[in-house]
Amino acid sequence: MELPLSQLPASEQAMWRDAAADVHWYQPPSQLLDDSQPPFYRWFPDGTTNACYNAVDLQVEQGRGDQAAIIYDSPVTASQRTISYNQLLEQVSRFAGLLRQQGVEQGDRVLLYMPMIPEAAVAMLGCARIGAVHSVVFGGFASNELAVRIDDATPKVVVTATCGIEPNRVVEYQPLLNQAIELASHQPAASIVLERPECPAQLGPRDIDWQSGVAAAPSVDCLPLAANHPLYILYTSGTTGQPKGVVRDTGGSIVALKWSMANIYNVKPGDVYWAASDVGWVVGHSYIVYGPLFNGNTTVIYEGKPVGTPDAGAFWRVIEQHKVKVLFTAPTAFRAIRKEDPNAELMHRYDLSSLQALFLAGERCDPDTLNWALEKLQRPVIDHWWQTETGWSICANCLGREQLPIVAGSPARPVPGYNVAVLDEQGEPVAAGTIGALVVKNPLPPGTFTTLWNAPQRYQSAYFEKFPGYYETGDAGYIDDNGYVFVMARTDDVINVAGHRLSTGAIEEVLAGHPAVAECAVIGIACPMKGQLPMGLLVLNAGVSQSEDEIVAEAIAKVRADIGPVAAFKLCAVVNRLPKTRSGKILRATMRSIADGAPWKMPATIDDPVILDEITAALATLGYPAELPAAG
Ligand code: COA
Ligand code: AMP
Repeated sequence: MELPLSQLPASEQAMWRDAAADVHWYQPPSQLLDDSQPPFYRWFPDGTTNACYNAVDLQVEQGRGDQAAIIYDSPVTASQRTISYNQLLEQVSRFAGLLRQQGVEQGDRVLLYMPMIPEAAVAMLGCARIGAVHSVVFGGFASNELAVRIDDATPKVVVTATCGIEPNRVVEYQPLLNQAIELASHQPAASIVLERPECPAQLGPRDIDWQSGVAAAPSVDCLPLAANHPLYILYTSGTTGQPKGVVRDTGGSIVALKWSMANIYNVKPGDVYWAASDVGWVVGHSYIVYGPLFNGNTTVIYEGKPVGTPDAGAFWRVIEQHKVKVLFTAPTAFRAIRKEDPNAELMHRYDLSSLQALFLAGERCDPDTLNWALEKLQRPVIDHWWQTETGWSICANCLGREQLPIVAGSPARPVPGYNVAVLDEQGEPVAAGTIGALVVKNPLPPGTFTTLWNAPQRYQSAYFEKFPGYYETGDAGYIDDNGYVFVMARTDDVINVAGHRLSTGAIEEVLAGHPAVAECAVIGIACPMKGQLPMGLLVLNAGVSQSEDEIVAEAIAKVRADIGPVAAFKLCAVVNRLPKTRSGKILRATMRSIADGAPWKMPATIDDPVILDEITAALATLGYPAELPAAG
């Protein structure tokens, strides 16, 4: 492979050359990186490959046909299923055939609205097989959010199941999806619907039954695709209500994710790997579906929660039963487990000898939670930092290379391929230990996003303009004298709720739509369990006759209906005014200037004393009176 003209250090060139040699190409790339149009970098530009082939067909060819590819473990439906690589190949080939029968061709988009069942992975791989670009939407989003994504991705086909299952309810997907299609301007030609036993299908004129459709479909082969062909679009929250469609390419993803399985997570083909997340998030794309399968692992698809299904020992039961070697989840899951089982009595009932390490990401890991997990598990607990945009770790303790000392509060050092720096507002590097904007020097490594769907201009302006030559992560933090990176907060209006990334701007747009609301602001306040919770502050129109309590209740219901339960929006208060700049811009980040002691009320839904204390403290710093009315 010829060397690129870029500034890439020779060691990195060698590393990616070796990593690329470790995956299947129909046409191996002769060039490592096309850096002729920064920041639109193209890795392995003239290679051709296929993600489904690398994930499934290749594993079968290499002798793993009878090995479990997927273990589906669903405490919420009291069921389990194992799917071998041979069976996965059969299912994926036929699903791809069904897509083809619906007219789906290379480059067409397919939107997936699926719960945590193996068919979600089958549908993703089926798309990749024929070069269709999938876009998975998390099941906790409601119709409006779905409609926005349908209009942006303009899918030819949508794929869904009749329901998802939350511990307290069955979430019927079909009505949500149908309403979304009604709201959207773009109309998909067909919906493929998987009927689950918990909820019968209601098939309309555009709906196709998954089971009978797949049974009648031909098996189709993988299509060789250009390395830079989009593998998927994954929408994530930005500053405004319009989500960003992160585009990931095919070749870079295969190379980087396979490399990460060995070098970061230290797992070998045949090992059982479990990312307890959801296919609707980037963790699910990279580490429930693609990464483990590229590496010949067995991946666990877990449909349930860390607590309450049936108890806080659920994760330990799965680890013992399936001999999980690496568990990856969000710190919030551990905070939930710790709350229920502070002395780890449930944990110690299970044989966890298979577990080599726990990896945490998705939000800042507070040192208290990390230390608890370390003490109770007595094995490496690795905090690692990454984002939907990067698709895999920016900073981590790379267990497959060399284990560094674990420092609570830090996801360790930059992973090879990422050149991380901290800059001040003027774009100048700051001294060690000083907080600033966390940035990564261009080019980003393979497997990171290549553009934003339909928005290349936004890709440039949102990420590459403020600090020329760097990718702006949107996170603030510092690097200490040992080169350890500390990620402290977002620099934008994005908040992180239970490991889920949310846009305060999107919630504000919904609140502003309430007829009684003159203006509003949403801020993230500290929550001991979920990390942050969104809180809405509403200024009402003069002369509104409705009671404040009624308006607050309607506002909360509206966010749930428009964005979805995932917004976890339950805190809302009426205030007299919001702090603004002279030009009228609301100062969300500096709300402490509210000093007028505005009369306000907490809704009766807040009954957790810890949250009440947090809110009291948060609001006190905002200049609100520190006294809260009694809950209830
Ligand atoms: N479909 C429909 N609704 C969903 C959903 C889905 N796929 N996922 C979550 N929801 C709902 C929940 O039922 C809840 O509804 P409620 O207000 O009626 O209770 C709401 O969305 C908020 O969900 P969440 O914030 O996840 O809270 P929770 O109490 O259900 O669970 C945790 C809390 C900590 C147990 C859970 O968030 C968790 O396990 N998180 C860690 C793992 C993870 O997914 N990380 C993401 C990236 S790594
Ligand atoms: P998402 O794109 O949903 O994966 O969210 C990415 C954001 O989550 C990052 O920009 C950070 O703000 C936060 N995040 C993820 N992992 C970590 C971590 N290990 N430490 C601190 N923040 C994290």
